[in-house]
Amino acid sequence: MIVAKRAIYTIGRVQLTRTLSTRASTILSALDISTTEELSGVYDGQWRGSGDIFSSVCPTTGEILARVKSASPQELHDALARSREAYTLFRHVPAPRRGEILRQIREALSAKRDELGALVSLEMGKIRTEGVGEVQEFIDICDYAVGLSRMMNGNVVASERPGHSILEVPNPLGVVGVLSAFNFPVAVYGWNLALSLAAGNATIWKPSPSTPLCSIAVTRIVARVLESNGIPGAVAGLVTGGREAGAAIAESRDVELVSFTGSELVGRNVGKTVMSRFGKTILELGGNNASIVMPDADLSIAVPSVFFGAVGTAGQRCTSTRRLYLHRDIAPEFLDRLKKLYATIKPADPLVDGTLLGPLHTSAALKTYSDAIDHLRSIDADILTGGNRYTDAPLDAGNFVQPTIAIPKSVDPKAKIWSTETFAPILNAAVFDNIEEAIAWNNAVPQGLSSSLWSRDIRNLGKWIGPGGSDAGIVNVNVGTSGAEIGAAFGGNKSTGWGRESGGDAWKQYVRWSACTINFSDSAPLAQGVNFSI
Ligand code: UN1
Repeated sequence: MIVAKRAIYTIGRVQLTRTLSTRASTILSALDISTTEELSGVYDGQWRGSGDIFSSVCPTTGEILARVKSASPQELHDALARSREAYTLFRHVPAPRRGEILRQIREALSAKRDELGALVSLEMGKIRTEGVGEVQEFIDICDYAVGLSRMMNGNVVASERPGHSILEVPNPLGVVGVLSAFNFPVAVYGWNLALSLAAGNATIWKPSPSTPLCSIAVTRIVARVLESNGIPGAVAGLVTGGREAGAAIAESRDVELVSFTGSELVGRNVGKTVMSRFGKTILELGGNNASIVMPDADLSIAVPSVFFGAVGTAGQRCTSTRRLYLHRDIAPEFLDRLKKLYATIKPADPLVDGTLLGPLHTSAALKTYSDAIDHLRSIDADILTGGNRYTDAPLDAGNFVQPTIAIPKSVDPKAKIWSTETFAPILNAAVFDNIEEAIAWNNAVPQGLSSSLWSRDIRNLGKWIGPGGSDAGIVNVNVGTSGAEIGAAFGGNKSTGWGRESGGDAWKQYVRWSACTINFSDSAPLAQGVNFSI
């Protein structure tokens, strides 16, 4: 065993020392994150931070990984001003040149992919392969945005007037505020940064207060590339902080677009605040995603996919499978096979190869889990498996809970158990008799992020993806609810907020569209034949 590092912290006038585990210090050192000093959590071209101190706590062991100096109100104000200055310069850099910078960011991320992936696993708690996958998602969207930097095309529209042309021109938008969540502490920022940079904007990132290290590590990588290209670092600024910092970004008239990922509760406030000043939003809020299994489904792929959807990331993806609708003919067999997979789950350190179940991210999430289990018991649901915390050492030091399958008595999708998103590995199952009933249940909840149908019958697929089909943003067939690629637009409808990020047409939100009617002629006719001559 390598000797653990001793860190020295000053809180007020008191100096504290503590020992950082080898497990943590190896990962932090590989990314040049100091294991002994408080870290600066603000970057606006310079690293700074003199606001409140935030601790990064390891969800697996409970140890404090680092302390981070967040933005004071003045620093936040200054960082916003620097973002605007950076934007006014960066918008003149030709888009393909911006693409070249993105290509270098992609290379720099790729060189540190495994190290960053391990940091995600350490700080967020997801298993290492998912942590690395998340960094890969950032790399993928960089590739996409490099291509986009030569393809962010406008339109030439036919004019009804002789000698006139109409152009639709995409120009850079301004400053984009990215308020991201703990569960994807790297990828969701990546989706926004890549499109925003390609579009010629500056971003200012306010990450979740509980994953500051991921944001510092990513920002350092991006900043080095910007600086080496002579681009102001504030093109990709960082302000760690709490609610006040997020609120200040939402309120700032210097932020044209606020991209927020998080709960419906907070998203509602962010949406109202930004709308009240007529800013733009992209909202990625709660998901309450269903998988529907038809009798003709191939259970050999459906069962493991539902298992990943419900248990992967310990149920902490917005896209996690939370509702399982099984056709009566296959329900007993499906549940039997699913329970067998659940029985194989061994919770462990998410950094260790082969672990499939890591901890919940915070100790507060333990209460959310146990409240949901209490509710299931109070409504007399049949709990097929799970329902408890793991309390034996060493798991008791972390936030480990048993993945749970429950069959509530009521199938009414308006009942609290079906209509509420619980950010934990709890899967509620119900039995249906025909696809129309299952689609109606799928659509009856407030949220509309992801959904999946398991069937080989093309008639079912037609119903599922057509006008009377799933009303979610993601409508999959023989593919689980989670794990989307970057190529298609990502996002959900209804109370999920209607936002779209990543691929598809999402980039069009990061530009300012100008409709330009140009007269090349020597007369000035009016449209629609209007006569205004004297
Ligand atoms: C999220 O949970 O906020 O589709 C994002 C997925 C991932 C992204 C999830 N690509 O599950």
